[in-house]
Amino acid sequence: MHKQKIGVIGGGLMGHGIAYLLAAAGHEVGVFEPDAQVRGSLPQRLRAIADLLGDDAELIARIAAHDQMAPAVRNAGFVFEAAPEKLPLKQRIFAELESAVAPDTILASNSSAIPATEIGRDLKHRERVIGTHFWNPPHLVPLVEVIQNEKTNDAVVRATLDLLRDAGKTAVHVRRDVPGFVGNRLQHAMKREAFALVAAGVCDAETIDIVVKEGFGARTAVLGPMEQSDLVGLDLALDIADVLYAHLDRTAAAPSILREKIKAGKLGMKSGEGLRKWGPGEADAVRARLSRFLAEQAKARKKRST
Ligand SMILES: NC(=O)c1ccc[n+]([C@@H]2O[C@H](COP(=O)([O-])OP(=O)(O)OC[C@H]3O[C@@H](n4cnc5c(N)ncnc54)[C@H](O)[C@@H]3O)[C@@H](O)[C@H]2O)c1
Repeated sequence: MHKQKIGVIGGGLMGHGIAYLLAAAGHEVGVFEPDAQVRGSLPQRLRAIADLLGDDAELIARIAAHDQMAPAVRNAGFVFEAAPEKLPLKQRIFAELESAVAPDTILASNSSAIPATEIGRDLKHRERVIGTHFWNPPHLVPLVEVIQNEKTNDAVVRATLDLLRDAGKTAVHVRRDVPGFVGNRLQHAMKREAFALVAAGVCDAETIDIVVKEGFGARTAVLGPMEQSDLVGLDLALDIADVLYAHLDRTAAAPSILREKIKAGKLGMKSGEGLRKWGPGEADAVRARLSRFLAEQAKARKKRST
């Protein structure tokens, strides 16, 4: 794949990781970040990724931070937008991008929930607007969902998949721009059931986590739910669905247990209590465990591919 100029809009949590992985793949990256403090912390955050992955920090020289959009995206073949999750803001950014880049520059949004269809609604060239849903942290979690909408050109989908795969990501093609795409629909279907089980007193939050991590989660990284259904046989899958599905939670609204906890000031790790209590150091230990685990996996993947 030829090395090219790539723009990243927003140098926050997702933007700096996306910039890093594209620079690691050999591209020149321009990051537009309007907040001086966030922009100033970019080199240090990028170095921390290089340290974590054991990469040569030289690659960071391929990333330039800008306080204006135009220089960040000048001559870019792709632009990845990772600005705050607000539709009017993203629409303004895309309108500004349209006047700053070539008509065939691919414009990708990393929105978690807002369809790129809506973000690019008023653009002249909608065929180059696409969703690219990275997972946090984007430099460590392999998956990117590449979401085609009804206006996206097939060649744009192919070019986006190629770029991301060449950068070492596992990029999948999502053929319709549905809310939550694929990954978040699956994740939140499970969470809805988990919240319902805790609210009904079937078990506590800690038990949910143990059941997932030590039960089906222990094999999920190597056996997806479709493979698992074929493995046990669709006749058994049907028998289970016949008995179980009528009992699964189907509430359309967000779970009231979340509203109640929030009203009581229990926001999770940041307030010391959420679905469970978090004592001193416990939340940091979870974050460190996650980061170590993902970094080890990323390093092992890199070793396998070289
Ligand atoms: N955090 C996650 O786990 C996650 C996962 C997947 C997708 N996303 C999506 O990625 C996007 C970015 O999320 P984040 O977590 O990196 O947020 P963030 O707040 O860490 O970063 C957003 C950055 O955009 C900057 N910004 C504000 N206005 C801007 C503008 N007009 N132009 C350019 N930059 C601007 C902010 O200063 C900030 O640094 C959101 O759409 C979010 O939904 C987040």
